[in-house]
Amino acid sequence: MKTAVYQEFLQSHGLAPPSLHVVLGSGFGTALSAFPWEKVGELSFASVPGLHASTVPDHAGKYSFYRKGNQVVSFQMGRLHGYEGHAPDEVTRTVMIPRLAGVKNFLLTNAAGGLSLAYQSGDVMLLRDHVNLTGMNPLRGPNPRGLDGAELGPRFPDMSRVYDARWRAQLHKACLQQGLRVHEGVYLGILGPSFETPAEVQLFSSWGLHAVGMSTVWEAIALKHSGARLAALSLISNPGAGLVAGTALDHLEILETCRASATRIVGAIQSFVEEGL
Ligand code: HPA
Repeated sequence: MKTAVYQEFLQSHGLAPPSLHVVLGSGFGTALSAFPWEKVGELSFASVPGLHASTVPDHAGKYSFYRKGNQVVSFQMGRLHGYEGHAPDEVTRTVMIPRLAGVKNFLLTNAAGGLSLAYQSGDVMLLRDHVNLTGMNPLRGPNPRGLDGAELGPRFPDMSRVYDARWRAQLHKACLQQGLRVHEGVYLGILGPSFETPAEVQLFSSWGLHAVGMSTVWEAIALKHSGARLAALSLISNPGAGLVAGTALDHLEILETCRASATRIVGAIQSFVEEGL
């Protein structure tokens, strides 16, 4: 994996590897304008060898770096998805390049459909766990190696505690303080791009899963394998198809619903970082 451009970018801007890398998913496109730290640079996916430009509306495809004192946080604006035609390792490269360049802490965000009747649009769900139903795994093939050539993690990595429990509790509190409704639950990752049928939503809901989306699980698996510390959250943008009679799903409407909550979530992320990871 080529990390030189990312590392040279940090060096030329006098930046240490970020203490947290945040992936901002669908609906978060404009939420960062309220983040009050000093913006110190931007690196587009297009200028990093091995990364592809995103094809999805609201996914800019760049890293934005912010500094407060000597702390640096990077926000990844947009991600790549399997449904765009990218292989799992192409998707995870967007987080594994920072990981190999020395970043240890990650927060993944996404927009997701609610599978629980208790979830409303605009709510937040902190991931307790996930189910990977994409049929693919980013660790398929030779066991990924670091810059020194050593394997990043075991061939059969344990996935029993992917999402850090202490961070989940801290983020839960920070989201409540922002006036958000907060849940903790299990995220179901599917490939997309079609939304689920009502029959699928009924099935997934009867399995006890709480939210469904088209991202996050591959990044989480690759990061956990490499020993990174991570948390993830879903912004519930809509009830799963068929859960509420007479509604159809529309991507642009989903983005609109997300905007107000996304700004509050960015506020919660700010308190989370400032209170110490
Ligand atoms: N299903 C899958 N992915 C999604 C949804 C959904 O209902 N909403 C936002 N992303």
